[in-house]
Amino acid sequence: MVIAIDGPAGSGKSTVAKLIAQRLGITFLNSGSFYRGITLCVLRASLDYRDQEAVLALAESLAMEYRQSRLVINGEDVEGLLHSDAVDALVSPVSAIVPLRHLVNRKIREIAQSISVVCEGRDMTTVVFPGADYKFYLDASSRARALRRFNQGVSSLSLEEIEESIQERDEKDKKKAEGALKIAPKAEYIDTSDLTLDEVCAIIVNKFTL
Ligand code: DC
Repeated sequence: MVIAIDGPAGSGKSTVAKLIAQRLGITFLNSGSFYRGITLCVLRASLDYRDQEAVLALAESLAMEYRQSRLVINGEDVEGLLHSDAVDALVSPVSAIVPLRHLVNRKIREIAQSISVVCEGRDMTTVVFPGADYKFYLDASSRARALRRFNQGVSSLSLEEIEESIQERDEKDKKKAEGALKIAPKAEYIDTSDLTLDEVCAIIVNKFTL
């Protein structure tokens, strides 16, 4: 079974997908982690992200595994390093590299071939699993999303700066040549701005029991 959830940064899709996966006892798969992990390696290698061939060659050389919903690259659990401001700033242009998207998509489909997953990202419902058993699009206002990130306490930016960077990233994500963020046909649209996590999960879980 594939449950696919898409939406912009801060819409709550990661947390919701994780909870749903826990409730159903299946694997949570965060597709953004792959783009973030590759971005981390680009930063570590001091590569110019605009050199698409070099970035792709680096990505192809990485052994990326997903163990218990955590990204492991070349044997190192990098999960705790994926949400720094440096990775945040670079991940959108890195994820816009088309052949790199194909590499990540192949990896994700390979993982979902043998197990049931709740996967989330930007193009899970449109490109990677258009025929998913269940498809959801989670949304929220940019202010609500910035506030959530601010309250995590992991960013050194002000609330206004976070909101600006979220809006910039949204724009870039929506304009991607491939894998642009959009609402898939037959996806259930949920605005989470004024909903609690439990309320969002309840809406989703209700779909399975109907
Ligand atoms: O969901 P996130 O914030 O961790 O995603 C990080 C970046 O990766 C973001 O700029 C969008 C991009 N991304 C993507 O292009 N396609 C996906 N399926 C998941 C994430």
